[in-house]
Amino acid sequence: MTSAPEINAVQPIAWLGDRLRLLDQRLLPLQESYIDCRNAAEVAEAIHGMAVRGAPAIGIAAAYGLVLAVRQDRNAFEEAERVLAASRPTAVNLRWALARLRGLWQRGADAAALEVEARRIHEEDLAQNLLMGELGAALLPQHARVITHCNTGALATGGHGTALGVIRTAYAQGKIAQVYNTETRPWLQGARLTAWELMREGIPTKLIADGAAAHLMRIERIDWVIVGADRIAANGDTANKIGTYMLAVAARRHGAKFMVVAPSGTFDLDCADGESIPIEERSAEELTEFRGQQIAPSGMQAFNPVFDVTPAELIDAIVCERGVIEHPTAGRVTALLR
Ligand code: MRU
Repeated sequence: MTSAPEINAVQPIAWLGDRLRLLDQRLLPLQESYIDCRNAAEVAEAIHGMAVRGAPAIGIAAAYGLVLAVRQDRNAFEEAERVLAASRPTAVNLRWALARLRGLWQRGADAAALEVEARRIHEEDLAQNLLMGELGAALLPQHARVITHCNTGALATGGHGTALGVIRTAYAQGKIAQVYNTETRPWLQGARLTAWELMREGIPTKLIADGAAAHLMRIERIDWVIVGADRIAANGDTANKIGTYMLAVAARRHGAKFMVVAPSGTFDLDCADGESIPIEERSAEELTEFRGQQIAPSGMQAFNPVFDVTPAELIDAIVCERGVIEHPTAGRVTALLR
């Protein structure tokens, strides 16, 4: 681990030519500390261990990981691709980014060309987020009151964010009256990361326990629930952080609209619907312990799925850089992505 480099803005992923520098998101907001990865195995470990997280960010990191591998050994491509692809199963952006490099590699590209492509994936993500920010903000009313879940901001992407990018853009347009961000158990991406990003920019936000969302929607007006995605199936069913489905059910019950914001690299047309999206399950200790401290009885068993699937019928709009899909169906998804 190295001390923090001199930077002004949040820069969770920095390509330094011979290594990948990652802001260790496990330690935020209490500590800004960086990890340098010098090979694909170290990148895969940083992804699996949640030092870097968020679907677009892990896609970007994996692409750089593959570049590190082939720079060291031309024959390392397949093994590095396998190790990186296995690091987290649900976010399809990871496989999508690796597939972009594979396509070039199979056409005879060298390590330098792969590096250019990895940088392009990184830069494109920021540009797409800025576009989605405009498209999503246009759907919000004045004085909007919104709920967001997990962290979908600059930390989770190449910059600006997806769902949080919409909130950022809408705030800059003077449209946001109040944000509520969930804690997002068990890793607390909301309490630690979203709160940190929003507070740095003075965007009015209040932290809520995950279980408080339905109560909040019942007692106060919430216009939109705005979330990101880890994988969107061909019919619009969307996998995102555990608890998203619960928010969508509560939103429909209370008349709040539900928006998913994700770039085209998050769609997986090979998954006909949400049933075929693999859902990552992580260790029981993530629930029975907190930062190494036991909180449940010894020997307690746990079920720890870290994503869930929200059916398309509960989604009012999917915002992608190519446009907005209202009330998603297979036909509308195909029409936008074709
Ligand atoms: O487990 P995480 O923190 O990687 O989960 C992140 C999410 O679920 C995000 O909502 C999703 O990846 C979109 S990030 C722009």
